[in-house]
Amino acid sequence: MASHKLYLLRHGEGAWNKENRFCSWVDQKLSEAGVQEARDCGLLLKSQGCQLDVVYTSLLSRSAQTSWLVAEAMGQEWVPVVKSWRLNERHYGSLIGLNRAEMAAVHGEQQVKVWRRSYDVAPPPIEPSHPYYAEIYEDRRYGACDVPAGALPRAESLKQVLDRLLPYWDGVVAPVVKSGRTVLISAHGNSCRALLKHLEGISDEDIAGVTLPTGIPVLLELDADLRPVKKHQLLGDPAKVQAAIKKVEDQGKALPNGK
Ligand code: 3PG
Repeated sequence: MASHKLYLLRHGEGAWNKENRFCSWVDQKLSEAGVQEARDCGLLLKSQGCQLDVVYTSLLSRSAQTSWLVAEAMGQEWVPVVKSWRLNERHYGSLIGLNRAEMAAVHGEQQVKVWRRSYDVAPPPIEPSHPYYAEIYEDRRYGACDVPAGALPRAESLKQVLDRLLPYWDGVVAPVVKSGRTVLISAHGNSCRALLKHLEGISDEDIAGVTLPTGIPVLLELDADLRPVKKHQLLGDPAKVQAAIKKVEDQGKALPNGK
């Protein structure tokens, strides 16, 4: 018997999702399609009678924008939104800004899949010479975190994402869910994958097969101890969901003739 509902959401399409570039901690905004995805997600949740009590999101604009657009579409703009770096997307290190298909052409599709979907392999770390290093670490938002900017990640495996996310889940979010309030975590593909792995006990191997598309809400029905009573559900039209998953997976494929 489910006592609680928890919604996970990967933000709507971002500008660099569209360009197939590793976005990670670069603060890209939503694309026009991403804005519409977020609004559609809100309308879907509204049609299912979802009444949010609180939203948790990251420090990155694309997820915060998504939080607002979802709540606005639901007519629930008043719902509190709480932000933390601990819900940020996985830090892709030196891959940030690079094109996935080009990386697949150079390093092979299997290596790109390992970087994107493995559990315990981190990409090479970002260095101070990286074109986006200063933009990230000199940003004022990272001067107000619960760890000093110097201790923030320079690259992460999915395991390392879970390691920095869990204190926030255990200490902040889970107690709110346990109290019976309906929570939306509006975050990113890999921060949501990490939490999903933890909650459902997905193996280190099987998590590689889990891909979350943009703008599709994931429903977890949990018992009083926050254990899932059934497998998570990606909400919406099944054909649309499968097409969106395939679109994300195909991002890691080399283009024919490298173009
Ligand atoms: C990004 O960081 O660019 C995406 O949000 C996640 O990318 P991925 O699907 O390649 O992990």
